[in-house]
Amino acid sequence: MEILVEKDYKNMSKKAAFLIREAIKEKPDLILGLATGSTPIGTYEELIRMHKEEGLDFSKVTTFNLDEYYGLSPEDSQSYRYFMEDTLFKHINIKKENTHVPDGLVKEPNEYGKIYDKMIEEQGGIDIQILGIGRNGHIAFNEPDDELILSTHLTGLTEDTIEANSRFFDSIDKVPTTAITMGLGTIMKAKKIILMANGKNKTEIMGELLKGEKVSTKLPASLLLLHPDVTIIMDEEAAELYKK
Ligand code: GLP
Repeated sequence: MEILVEKDYKNMSKKAAFLIREAIKEKPDLILGLATGSTPIGTYEELIRMHKEEGLDFSKVTTFNLDEYYGLSPEDSQSYRYFMEDTLFKHINIKKENTHVPDGLVKEPNEYGKIYDKMIEEQGGIDIQILGIGRNGHIAFNEPDDELILSTHLTGLTEDTIEANSRFFDSIDKVPTTAITMGLGTIMKAKKIILMANGKNKTEIMGELLKGEKVSTKLPASLLLLHPDVTIIMDEEAAELYKK
């Protein structure tokens, strides 16, 4: 595991975008796993800049997003599909048919999850998976629990996550309580994982995670300690306890 501490959010974002750019240069048809939330926004901005100013080419890149709120349509401005279009896809030359976000409207989400995983496999697997982390240690929407499901599946969200994500909604009762998420098995199959964390509300969880003493389903991100190629990029605030 490689752990990088950058001065601030901007530098963390630039570093992640740099790693993605180098990977696309090496493999123009990169399979990229993407995340939502506020953490990767700066990375997406930097990738857009690289596209516009340096001609970084996304025309052969394929993307798979980690998760989607269950029950929200792609047109819903709170959906993760909408977020991805708005924050990244519409600003770069990626082909719409090459972008994949779980469909929040499917009738049989668990069956659909297996199809989603198969699609990833058929593309040759994810080359780089971008991850944020919830303040309770969740990755994608794999919440702390006694057991973690391996494949892409329907899951309930914890109160902590609903509360944390309510900042994007008009009120907390508008936050969906379920989501379709890649499972830990899907995520762990990615060839390389880049986890980003920034700001004070991630200090505690990053301190806990990077003690690196044990894995626990109660801290889903700790499973990443078993992955052969993980790069963690933090800003100084998130790294405060790690450095102590
Ligand atoms: C959500 C997403 C996760 C994300 C997490 C952290 O719950 N499903 O993929 O990593 O929030 O969000 P943020 O980056 O806004 O802190």
